[in-house]
Amino acid sequence: MKNYIYGIDFGTSNSVLSILNTTTRKIEKTFSENSVIYFQDVQHFFIGKDAIQHYLSNDMKGRLLKSIKTLLPQSAFTFTYIFGKKYSAEDLVCLILQYLKTQADQLVGEDVTEVVLGRPVVFSEDIAKDQLAEKRLINAARKAGFEKIWLQYEPIAAGFLYEQSIEKPELVLIGDFGGGTTDFTLMQLDKQKSTAVDRQQDILKSGGVHTGGDDFDAAIMWHKLVKHFGYGLQYDSNGKMLDLPVHIFRTLCEWEQMAFLKEGKLRKQLDNYYQYTNKNIAIDKLRTLIDDNLGFALFQTIEQAKIDLSKQENVDLYFNKSGLDLAEHLSLADFNGIVKKDIDDIEHFLTKFIAESGIEINAIKNVFITGGASSVEAVLSVFKKLFANEKIHSGDNFNSVAQGLALSYFYLQGRA
Ligand SMILES: Nc1ncnc2c1ncn2[C@@H]1O[C@H](COP(=O)(O)OP(=O)(O)OP(=O)(O)O)[C@@H](O)[C@H]1O
Ligand SMILES: [Mg+2]
Repeated sequence: MKNYIYGIDFGTSNSVLSILNTTTRKIEKTFSENSVIYFQDVQHFFIGKDAIQHYLSNDMKGRLLKSIKTLLPQSAFTFTYIFGKKYSAEDLVCLILQYLKTQADQLVGEDVTEVVLGRPVVFSEDIAKDQLAEKRLINAARKAGFEKIWLQYEPIAAGFLYEQSIEKPELVLIGDFGGGTTDFTLMQLDKQKSTAVDRQQDILKSGGVHTGGDDFDAAIMWHKLVKHFGYGLQYDSNGKMLDLPVHIFRTLCEWEQMAFLKEGKLRKQLDNYYQYTNKNIAIDKLRTLIDDNLGFALFQTIEQAKIDLSKQENVDLYFNKSGLDLAEHLSLADFNGIVKKDIDDIEHFLTKFIAESGIEINAIKNVFITGGASSVEAVLSVFKKLFANEKIHSGDNFNSVAQGLALSYFYLQGRA
């Protein structure tokens, strides 16, 4: 047995690696990176914060890839060409895992080949796609140099971490609110059992929905910003007034898709719409947004406004690039209205999840929430409706899953 193993939480927005010393059974270090890759040209690519910096300082030229995790279950995605080179989903995920592994290997001074990888409870509702995602994730880890690979559900990992902090056995609901998914697990926790090998019967139920913090950003774009780019305008089609196609504005809500508007025939149509709307300035702004690849920067501004609303009641969202001069005020009350549908979906799922478990809600002793989006007030309010304040606990929103994954090692190894 080697001295170290890693727990890796490969997330939609952030990827985190935790180093576990298998002799002392302690976590020695945890670090994270944005799950972003920037291909600057044929030879150069960057990962994480470096990727974002280089992309922005290079005038958004080249290809920036984000939310790579969402490619894993997409069976229609076989590969993409980047500067003439073919990349599969595995290849892209591998670049991030390899980057984290190299840094960690340097820290511990050995080539660590064992890893516990997190996976969401539901990659896809479609079983075949879910299995494909899992297979691709394992292949990516193998390609990155790992030889022994275990998979663990992300919220179960968070549960194992929370277990370290409890004195008496308790039934706990774990909620993990990420960028792309929200996952729940009901677990019977007991610190005395934390190194026991068979904990299967303690994991009572797991489930998840494809709604996460990134959906809140898309909702802000839809409710507050698409109007600046012509949503709601009509154009003159041979004397008949028609609405601009709504799919253009839906696409703007997923910045990765914006690049596709630039290609294809739609870009040419935008020039026509500009004429047919009597040179409406909003269409000109839309062309600038697309032509100057401003989608990523705009979404960074939106995300920051959302994050600020986790600690203040009002934000002013400004975006001033390439002559796009956007200003919007966003109050917490506005934001709560904007994300209501997503929050309702989460609440509906959670209520059903608890009901289907057959467990009385009062029997749930505590709730442990983690993930970046758990800071959102509306998310917290879902729990506050169901549980007393003193039952709701949180730890490190970004590192809990990776640390719990590393700690799952003894349990998983025993089961192997
Ligand atoms: N303080 C905050 N307030 C509100 N939202 C936040 C805050 N900090 C981060 N977020 C949001 O949390 C999400 C990222 O959370 P996290 O890092 O847990 O996700 P992830 O693990 O990468 O995704 P997933 O688990 O879905 O694969 C993003 O949508 C981000 O904007
Ligand atoms: Mg996560």
